[in-house]
Amino acid sequence: MIKTILKDSKIENEVSNFSKDEVKKVSEMIENKTGEGNDFLGWVTWPNDFDKDELSRMKVVANNLKEKIEVLLVVGIGGSYLGARAADEMIRGLYPKDGVELIYIGNTISSTYTKQVLEYVKNKEFGIVNISKSGTTTEPGIAFRVFEKLLVDIKGKEVAKERIVAVTDKAKGALKQLATAEGYETFTIPDDIGGRFSVFTPVGIFPLLVAGVNIDEIFAGAKKAMEDTKSLDNEAYKYAVARHILHTQKGFKAETLVGYELQMQTFTEWWKQLFGESEGKDGKGLFPTSCIFSTDLHSLGQFVQEGTKNVLFETIIDVKKPTMDLNVPTNDEDLDGLNYLTSKSFHEINKVALEGVIDAHANTGDVPNIVLEFEKMDAEMFGYAAYWFMKSCAMSGYLLGINPFNQPGVEVYKTNMFKLLRKPGF
Ligand code: PA5
Repeated sequence: MIKTILKDSKIENEVSNFSKDEVKKVSEMIENKTGEGNDFLGWVTWPNDFDKDELSRMKVVANNLKEKIEVLLVVGIGGSYLGARAADEMIRGLYPKDGVELIYIGNTISSTYTKQVLEYVKNKEFGIVNISKSGTTTEPGIAFRVFEKLLVDIKGKEVAKERIVAVTDKAKGALKQLATAEGYETFTIPDDIGGRFSVFTPVGIFPLLVAGVNIDEIFAGAKKAMEDTKSLDNEAYKYAVARHILHTQKGFKAETLVGYELQMQTFTEWWKQLFGESEGKDGKGLFPTSCIFSTDLHSLGQFVQEGTKNVLFETIIDVKKPTMDLNVPTNDEDLDGLNYLTSKSFHEINKVALEGVIDAHANTGDVPNIVLEFEKMDAEMFGYAAYWFMKSCAMSGYLLGINPFNQPGVEVYKTNMFKLLRKPGF
């Protein structure tokens, strides 16, 4: 479902010649869960091992909830936020006609944004899912307080209780305590799966069920990727090795993930978090950035074509089959001179843009290009792609010699904030 194409024969050769022993060693560390951070490798076999009873329970709660609400407020940040949004937008698109609207809060402390969401939902039927593994992160914590109070004030405690769900650790943290005390329905984030690897756990699955996404197809895609990425010469490892060579042997410092579909924008944000938080350690790692073309061709495209060289390479997501397509209409007068395009669909024109840009950036601009061909943009493809990138991230991180599964740097700011806000005990 994903094919990795290197647009440079020299890099292709170097990837083919890269030490098979090294890839084998790392692959065994991942599959046998023996590498550093191995207590966070639960995601590797999760498409098989996930808790089937909990999924059935989630389906019942989600089906009940979606009958009652128009909007689900999804509270969370980082790995407790990006996966659900990336999936929802990739699968349902940006303006879905049916299903519950998902609105994300707790990923910002912006007072204006929070107040605007408050104004937006106060006259709507809404529910809340509060997602935090630690249960103590400040941003989602304070957002939840505001919206829990709003719901209780409008609907009363009993109705609010039917509309609030917590997703958190099985035992620890303030959110677990709060959910137990208030009697909120609670789903568990497994101990051995960290935030950015958690989209297939209730973190991503519960909001997506409420939105009406087909979860069984997501799991089918993830399972297929799990099987496809067991061999040593799989496409995810090819991508990991290519970016490793570009970084450690060719000196590239940054990678930009390029999409040609607006509904893939948050997927690129999820990818940035996955690779940035996993690899940016010990003074190492590619700085992950992202672009959506054509939009960014009219801003960053200039830099990519002619700016500082040997810093940035591009990885392009080439979606073969769009979810929808349309034609450029004919116009008898042709005042805008566009009738020459009427035999083509928008998707065909988008493909021409992709080919023209790759030629310009890779051949004229001398910027290495990796193309990742995606078959389509549905639930199965999301499951496949998310698992595929997690696996390539694990390979890439271990090749770099870092622990891909912790985030000590993020903890620094969290603790600083606690101290500055005078949280008791800090
Ligand atoms: O990937 C990660 O582990 C982080 O981005 C966390 O998901 C993020 O910091 C949110 O943490 P929590 O779920 O504990 O609120």
